Amino acid sequence: MKDIKNPVYVTEPILPNMADLEQEIKEIFETKWITNHGVKHDLLENKLQKILKVPNVSIFNNGTIALLTALKALNLPIGSEVITSPFTFPATPHSISWNGLKPVFCDIEPYTMTIDTEKIESLITNNTSAILPVHVYGFPCDVENIDKIAKSYDLNVIYDAAHCFNTEINGKGIGKFGDISMFSFHATKLYNTFEGGCLTYNDHEMKKKIYYLRNFGIKNEEEIVDIGINGKMNEIQASIGLLNLKLFKNEQMKRSNIKKIYLDNLNEIEGIRIPKMPKNATDSFQFFPIVIEDNFSLSRDQLYEELKKHNIFTRKYFYPICSDYKPYKNIESSSVSNLPVANDIKKRVLCLPYFGDLDHEIVIRICKIIMRLNNQ
Ligand SMILES: Cc1ncc(COP(=O)(O)O)c(C=O)c1O
Repeated sequence: MKDIKNPVYVTEPILPNMADLEQEIKEIFETKWITNHGVKHDLLENKLQKILKVPNVSIFNNGTIALLTALKALNLPIGSEVITSPFTFPATPHSISWNGLKPVFCDIEPYTMTIDTEKIESLITNNTSAILPVHVYGFPCDVENIDKIAKSYDLNVIYDAAHCFNTEINGKGIGKFGDISMFSFHATKLYNTFEGGCLTYNDHEMKKKIYYLRNFGIKNEEEIVDIGINGKMNEIQASIGLLNLKLFKNEQMKRSNIKKIYLDNLNEIEGIRIPKMPKNATDSFQFFPIVIEDNFSLSRDQLYEELKKHNIFTRKYFYPICSDYKPYKNIESSSVSNLPVANDIKKRVLCLPYFGDLDHEIVIRICKIIMRLNNQ
């Protein structure tokens, strides 16, 4: 088998055409309007509203500030509890903590690795104010059940939708579920603005509140109406966003071809489980995670190390999980007995290289290496 010469990483960003970007920057230089809700900023918000099929979009300088702002906008009582998944990026529980709220970890279910809705109710107390589920890897949470629980306990729902740009459930934009959803446009995401993100929400009344919060709480030259932050997206980020909107569908198509090769070659390997998208949802093609079962010849960590020897740099997303982190490991809900599935999956999951320009020959070689390692 031929060696893979150059390192292969888990992702590569889509990048706008340089000449097109130069033209955008030229326009910015001419107007000298470089940030603070410029023309490109507003245009991007309008376009995203249509693409994400949502009634309202507010764009931000990154997804974390967007999530912080979402929690702030809901006026959750300080010190109240927010039920969330430990199987996510640190930004999720950190946004809860930065708002003076308490994260309470709920276990995940093993197939989509999203929050286990059967386990949410047992964690609800008189002090619970919200649920913050994560559509991890782009797999949608059980939005119907979450909605039912939220309604019967009068809780807010904020979705971390960082991984599911352009996902739809039963033809509805995923950003329509819950009170607010956050999308990340970080470089590692299917669609990027280098750094960036947005909030989507149904309640038109929220638009102004979020607008002020995103800009220091400034209402006008003499009135500061809220304790805001600086979450504004600048005009260069917005230009990149406008140009990348023209590219992400093609990227999804290319990733779908790569997914097909992975599925054709890995499906038959004993001990490799490939989590599937539910039938009623479209795939964002954000990540390609596999789960290493007990009957595979190597552990996940051994497979990760072996692939590295072949210049293939996979990622152990998500390991460790948030309940293992220093700031959270001593809270009650972080116990392994509360999170048996998340603690099991964290040792088994591996994200394989997944980006449009990934050479198909390399994808086949990755699969063959995995197959050979299993047969050794
Ligand atoms: C699940 C999840 N939530 C939140 C974030 C934070 O988004 P950002 O990097 O845009 O701040 C990320 C990743 O970047 C993520 O993967």
